Amino acid sequence: MNLLGIETSCDETAAAVVRDGREVLSNVVCSQQILHGRYGGVVPELACRAHIEAITPAIQEALGQAGLRPGDLDAVAVTHAPGLVGALLVGVTAAKTMAWRLRIPLVPVHHVEAHIYANRLDGHPSVFPAVALVVSGGHTLLFRASSEADLACIGSTRDDAAGEAFDKVAAILGLGYPGGPAIDRVAARGHPAAIPFPRTFLEGDRFDFSFSGIKTAVLYHVKGQNAAGRAGGIPKAQEVADIAASFQEAMVDVLVVRTFLAAEHEHARAIYLGGGVACNSRLRQQFLERAGRSGIPVFWPRPALCTDNAAMIAGLGYHHWRRGRVAGLMLDAVPTPPRTMPSGCRCSAS
Ligand code: KG4
Ligand code: ZN
Repeated sequence: MNLLGIETSCDETAAAVVRDGREVLSNVVCSQQILHGRYGGVVPELACRAHIEAITPAIQEALGQAGLRPGDLDAVAVTHAPGLVGALLVGVTAAKTMAWRLRIPLVPVHHVEAHIYANRLDGHPSVFPAVALVVSGGHTLLFRASSEADLACIGSTRDDAAGEAFDKVAAILGLGYPGGPAIDRVAARGHPAAIPFPRTFLEGDRFDFSFSGIKTAVLYHVKGQNAAGRAGGIPKAQEVADIAASFQEAMVDVLVVRTFLAAEHEHARAIYLGGGVACNSRLRQQFLERAGRSGIPVFWPRPALCTDNAAMIAGLGYHHWRRGRVAGLMLDAVPTPPRTMPSGCRCSAS
């Protein structure tokens, strides 16, 4: 079974071909980072237009790299939720067109669930019950996974997503967009204990997150309490490195502590990570250290499968297709951001 996957939920136009939900034959990602970089964040209208230009070449490239013709495809899977509505519509329309033209099934895939599935594309074992943490520019979600087919959301951010906080702090420090990789790099030269930025652990909602406080603390630290300027002028390189390292340490502390708390509470036998922030080197290091002490193994995909890609869409789409979870040509884009989902809501997975 050769599935074409299409992903256009945010600022990457991606197409991939995956065989039998496992074997990645091609994984093409056309990044719009340069386009949005000058604005310091994703501009939805520009993203949508760029997707329109890139989608057909991306699909052609994915087929070419896989050594396949359109007629060799058995189904087309597409991200239909969540994301920027105009961006999602480009991928959904392309997928519908392919499904109609080639007379093949159209498979809708939830972007966040696919981030978790990316672990299987890297051959990680399936160990359940598990807890999964998806941390990206748009989402910070904790799931209880009783099987690959059964995900329940047990925690989410109340304000900024983790990646969003990385991006905003990088902007405050003048490190450019996307900020996560830049902070990761710069933090390597800084002292993680230099500044005691706050760690927000919400009471009552044991698995929910809040990152706006730490972001504001960085802003005040850099620009003063009224955020209007700074008596000492622009921070020097070592100071920027110390701020980046201290901020990163606080973010990672919260994510790691909360996730292991959830894992212990859910009697999880494994933890799976997904999303762009799962590329962070300090996050991986801290998760590994905790995994060693707790005996709960932690898995994450390689960087190209952590950030947005279409291989994860085609991979999960294969399992949906096998279970008959296909859509008609009335399929629509569903933009609702998942971080507004209340704790305890259920998500349908394959
Ligand atoms: O999963 P992704 O590609 O897109 C979304 O679904 O949002 O994640 C992008 C996010 C951005 O906020 C980016 O700054 C962050 O992931 N990111 C990182 C790192 N690499 C990417 N954050 C921290 N450290 C990194 N190494
Ligand atoms: Zn994503």
